[in-house]
This record gives sequence, structure tokens and C-alpha cells, in this order.
Amino acid sequence: MLDKIKQMLDEVNALQAANMEEAEALRIKYLSKKGEITALMADFRNVPAELKKEVGMRINELKNLATERINQLKAAAACQETVADDIDLTRTPYPIHLGTRHPLTLVKNEIVDIFSRLGFTLAEGPEVEDDWHVYSSMNFADDHPARDMQDTFFVEAHPDIILRSHTSSVQARVMEKQQPPIRVICPGRVYRNEAVSARAHCFFHQVEGLYVDKNVSFKDLKQVLLLFAQEMFGPDTQIRLRPSFFPFTEPSAEMDVSCTICGGKGCSMCKGSGWLEILGCGMVDPAVLEANGIDSSVYSGYAFGMGIERIANLKYQVKDLRMFSENDVRFLEEFTAAN
Ligand code: PHE
Repeated sequence: MLDKIKQMLDEVNALQAANMEEAEALRIKYLSKKGEITALMADFRNVPAELKKEVGMRINELKNLATERINQLKAAAACQETVADDIDLTRTPYPIHLGTRHPLTLVKNEIVDIFSRLGFTLAEGPEVEDDWHVYSSMNFADDHPARDMQDTFFVEAHPDIILRSHTSSVQARVMEKQQPPIRVICPGRVYRNEAVSARAHCFFHQVEGLYVDKNVSFKDLKQVLLLFAQEMFGPDTQIRLRPSFFPFTEPSAEMDVSCTICGGKGCSMCKGSGWLEILGCGMVDPAVLEANGIDSSVYSGYAFGMGIERIANLKYQVKDLRMFSENDVRFLEEFTAAN
């Protein structure tokens, strides 16, 4: 009897089951009413009295081991079956709802990307600025009427502290810290005190660029802007420059691109002219270089600035500027594919 128990202990230790049915078959074979271990226990009656103690212990040990082993096999089979039948481990566990990039971010990234390929680096600065960086360092005299061009928001009780009305302030901050060669692009939000309508807003976004080095000429400016326009609006895009005025550039110009809709023939988008205005530019006024600690007898530079909303409008034909800041999800989701 003891030998039989010993042999069965080994047998039980080595039990294997590939699935739940096999595990259940083992339970029936050993532990059911007609099972082998149950039969052994029934035989216990016939064991001589002097062996009863040891045989009893052994049989219990065998029964416990078999129960435990078979339960283990069942648990493993159950686990395997769920994995195999119910769960696809390659599937995303739940639909992940990704947000979309804001159209202004998309356009800004595109502009920054084009200029970074030309060697421009990114510069950023504060939106709450002092008068010096926004105006005085940019050659706006204290009583210069040009200050009225950009209706400024002032911080109450601090007339010197304002919300920047253009990102030229960032150019000033770069020049005061760094000597040429300087080649930076300054994207950011700017504020102007205008009534909010479909065509104007009290804040919008700009990208300005500044290049200062020896022998920088208007030709360089024109070539870079042509390249930008063609990268942004397509290789057939033409540009034209019209004389203009900015306090910080001399000479100054405004740049038009051939209409992105009709290609220059004239349509409702370009009001029949074939051209769309997109940016202001010019050669940095020597007074600006001097005010920012750069020797204007050695260095010259160009600068340009554009509104991101304007470019986005040309690309996506958004009729109402307010759409850009209202966070209407139906509008924002239009740009999902553009991510
Ligand atoms: N700072 C100008 C504006 O906000 C844009 C500009 C930048 C024009 C650089 C010329 C050169 O209107």
C-alpha cells in the first residue's frame, strides 16, 4: 500500500493538462467518487492496525497534493483560455480620442519650419512688455504718430508696461544679448485695442524675422521672401513689393503674393487684383541697430513680419477671424486630417 501511495505521489507531481477538459478528466480519474485516490481511502479499512497511522498520513498527503495540483492546472487552463479566446493583445485597449492641432499652430509650425531650413533659429519673449522693447528700441519717438498705428493696451497704473503689439520686441531682446550674425524668427501672440469683428481682433499672432550681418542687402530679403512664398503657397507663386512705411525699417515695403485661388487672373478672393497682401518688411533702420547696441557702420539687416491668421485665412479660407479663438470643436475638428 505504501509503495502504491509513493508511486501515485510521483504520478500526481508530474500531472499535466493542456486545457480545462484534460484537467477535469484528471480530477475525475483521481478524486471523484470512483477515483483512484478515493479507492485507496476506501481500502484504508484493510490496512493492518500498526500501519494505519503512517498510511493515513500518506494518503492524506497524496489527496492534498492531488487536489492542489489539479486546481493549479485548472487555473492555468482558465487563464490560457481567456487569453486565447477573448483577448486580442494586439488591439488598442480602448479608442484613444486624439485632439487636433489648432489651425494657427499648424500654420505657425509650417512657417517656422520653412525659415528654420534657411538657418533661422527660434526666439520667444514676454507678451507683457515694457515700452522700450516694443517701441523706443524700435525707433518710435515718444510722440511719434506711428505709435497710434498699433493701438496699444496699457497696464493700468504702469504706463511703461504694455501688452506687446508686435513681436519686434523679441527682436530687440535678441539684439541686446547677441552680436551679429543674427538670424531669428519670432512667433507669438500680440495685442491691439481693436473692436472684435469678423475682420479684426484684439489679439492675433505674428511671425517676425530678423537677419543682421555684414553686407546684408535688399536683394537677400527679396530672395528669402520669394522662397518663403513659394514654399508656403506653391512653386508658381509670384511676389511683388510695394513701398511702405515702418518706423523700424528703411526702406520699407509690403509684400503681396499672387492670388492663391486664381493664380493672378483676378477673383473674389483678391477682389479682382490678382494679388494678396501678406507681410511687411524692410531693411532694419540703422537707428534701430544703434539703439540695440549693434554698430550700424559695420552691420546691416533686414526684417519682416506677418500675421499668422492672415496666412491661415489664405490657406483655409476662414471667413471670420473669431473662429480662431472661439474653440468651437466643430471648427477645430475640420483640421484633424492636417495633423
Ligand atoms: N512689426 C510690424 C507690424 O507689426 C511688422 C514688420 C516687421 C514690418 C518687420 C516690417 C518689418 O506691423
